[in-house]
Amino acid sequence: EKIWKDILPVEKLEEKWVTRVDFGARKLAVYDTPSGIYTSMALCNHGGVDLCDGYFDGHVIECPLHQGAFDVRDGRPVGAPATRPMMTFQTRVHEGMVQIKA
Ligand code: FES
Repeated sequence: EKIWKDILPVEKLEEKWVTRVDFGARKLAVYDTPSGIYTSMALCNHGGVDLCDGYFDGHVIECPLHQGAFDVRDGRPVGAPATRPMMTFQTRVHEGMVQIKA
């Protein structure tokens, strides 16, 4: 069963940007957006590079390698060559901590 787990203090989030978080063996990308905080796997599912080194605007993360793009709210690909949804996690803020369901 999935439970809420702390991943970082909310004050460590980069405002309106993407923050890289190591969570056990997983590398996560945490996005501060106008509609809330979202989390995905940090590595691009097209070529495996770190999306946190890409460009982030609003709700869209653009991969630094081939400029594939994903909507961070649900992970859907919104720009070629990305074709598969990225893995996302339910995210919330609780008692000053960003948490994901994992
Ligand atoms: Fe991300 Fe190719 S590695 S779009």
